Amino acid sequence: LKAVTVPSLAEAKREGRKLTMLTAYDAGFARVMDGEGVDLILVGDSLGMVVQGEGNTLSVTVDDIAYHTACVARAATRALIVSDLPFQADASPDRALDASVKFLQSGAGMVKLEGAGHKLEVIRYLSEREIPVCAHLGLTPQSVLRFGGFKVQGRGEAAADKLLREAQEVEAAGAALLVLEGVPAPVAARITKSAGIPTIGIGAGADCDGQVLVLHDMLGLDSGHRRPRFVKDFLADGGSVAGAIAAYCAAVREGRFPAEEHTYAS
Ligand code: KIV
Ligand code: NA
Repeated sequence: LKAVTVPSLAEAKREGRKLTMLTAYDAGFARVMDGEGVDLILVGDSLGMVVQGEGNTLSVTVDDIAYHTACVARAATRALIVSDLPFQADASPDRALDASVKFLQSGAGMVKLEGAGHKLEVIRYLSEREIPVCAHLGLTPQSVLRFGGFKVQGRGEAAADKLLREAQEVEAAGAALLVLEGVPAPVAARITKSAGIPTIGIGAGADCDGQVLVLHDMLGLDSGHRRPRFVKDFLADGGSVAGAIAAYCAAVREGRFPAEEHTYAS
């Protein structure tokens, strides 16, 4: 299998090949994912919850993400590594640039940041400086205090239109990839159809150009929180960690995951 590059993501969308993404935070799991052909490994700030045991992602630091990116990068040779800019590391273009350089020097091939609005300037700043950016819209976990919890976004016509507009804005600002989290499937489908860049869904229906799940969720680990609707335990049928990851990749590529039961209606 050829190494996954930024241009190859757009190529996959054009050719209708679904992209597979999972989070990893260490070399052990990253090695298995790489071996099973996972296209993108996300060093997500979800590590605050699933690794550090916090109730949200707000306490994760740039050094945390850099450390875990280096751990993952030592084991992943084919997958493209995407590292999350943690809470407020993207508050200004300069801060975002400093953090992103650390991540790329630790082995990431792309950085991810949440939101549009004032973040559009940050996306543009990074993209113009040769740092590939993945945008992240919808249920953005770093907005948990404003949302008052982890709540589905983009419900109703006005909210859906706003999300569609934001998707166009992040693409115009230079984002090469777009994660859509916790949005009604028809809204994500509309965005995916109109976007020139690939969309990766989590709780966003089967019509996205790819899917992502948090590693611990897809292995059925109890997080201590209510399990969201979009989570599926692939270890139950997969039989082993490698089997679970292989089953996830196959289900995403064949359009069998997510199913109706994992998606939100408008
Ligand atoms: O941090 C993370 O794991 C994420 C995914 C849920 C998209 O941002
Ligand atoms: Na994240």
